[in-house]
Amino acid sequence: MSTTQTTNVATEMPQSTRTAAFSTSGPPTSMAPNGTNAEHGHITIKKLHATFGAEVSGVDFSRPLDDETLAEIRAAAAKDFAQYGVLVFRKTGLDDESHIAFGRQLGELDDITPYLGAGRANRLNHVELFDVSNIATDGGLLNPDTARGQANKGNNLFHVDSSFNPRRAGYSLLLVHELPPPGMGGHTAFADTRAAFDDLPDDLKKELLERNYIANHSMWHSRKLAAPDFFADVEPTDYAFGRHQLVQKHEVSDRMNLYIAAHVHHLDWLEEKESRRIIDTLYEHATQPKYQVEIEWRDKGDLVLWDNTCTMHKAVGGDFLRKYRRDMRRVTVHDGSSTAWGLNDKTALRQGMP
Ligand code: OGA
Ligand code: MN
Repeated sequence: MSTTQTTNVATEMPQSTRTAAFSTSGPPTSMAPNGTNAEHGHITIKKLHATFGAEVSGVDFSRPLDDETLAEIRAAAAKDFAQYGVLVFRKTGLDDESHIAFGRQLGELDDITPYLGAGRANRLNHVELFDVSNIATDGGLLNPDTARGQANKGNNLFHVDSSFNPRRAGYSLLLVHELPPPGMGGHTAFADTRAAFDDLPDDLKKELLERNYIANHSMWHSRKLAAPDFFADVEPTDYAFGRHQLVQKHEVSDRMNLYIAAHVHHLDWLEEKESRRIIDTLYEHATQPKYQVEIEWRDKGDLVLWDNTCTMHKAVGGDFLRKYRRDMRRVTVHDGSSTAWGLNDKTALRQGMP
């Protein structure tokens, strides 16, 4: 679970993958049925990793997506995106409003009202924007020693968004507003949890499918893992858990997914030790470098759209944190699948902290 373990992922990925992920070449040109590119009318898709991740070009974000393009993206979502799980769009030119509008075209949006209710001042003007920056409300660098600075450390562990809430996140759309200088870090890494499930030993797969474990997700648990001293007095069991099947079908791709994250505190029905052993085994398995792709943010307007119901992600960190502003804003789309609510009551309750 250490973050250092994966910061060198780029050097451990196969050469072809690495080149693709960090390619600075122009727009992808041709497509091959089995090759790295595919075209869908307007949009072009370039694969970034053997099993998931793609860079999409040819989408005009300067106006609301027309029905045809949206239909293409939806079709890609139903077919290819369902396979890719992570889509990178470069230099979209999106601003707060068009970012939110794009998210809204993909489903019902989550918002930050629970955080505001818990007392957080909002730097941004829209409740649909999750502030993923290292910037304080006065515009200066966020002091890493504050509660929010410490809470942000949880993002450095592989996770899915909002699995601790009654209704989990489906898509997340993270947009660059301002980046640290190149070479200072701040990349985002993704892990393919369907490929990870596929590769499990048969007996373990069988056990997981037969037992159908229920995982209890807690934001407090992952925060405590990431910042044990700061959150030493927090007891995750004092709060509600988000409860979801550990293995479940990713409906749009019809493939099984290991729905795991740093938020998983325990599995139902098991002794604590056995529960922790299974969680750690699966988490370590799913976060191996071979299942990862690391996305380098390059320009203002770069956007990554990912599906939290078949991938994990984490902030990779870097030297910028105490020196340079990194202004990233996220729009979060509630999951629309039949397992969106897991085993939770359908309430608007969400976990929040100032
Ligand atoms: C997020 C997140 C990682 C990053 O926006 O949900 O985890 O690199 N971001 O900022
Ligand atoms: Mn996240």
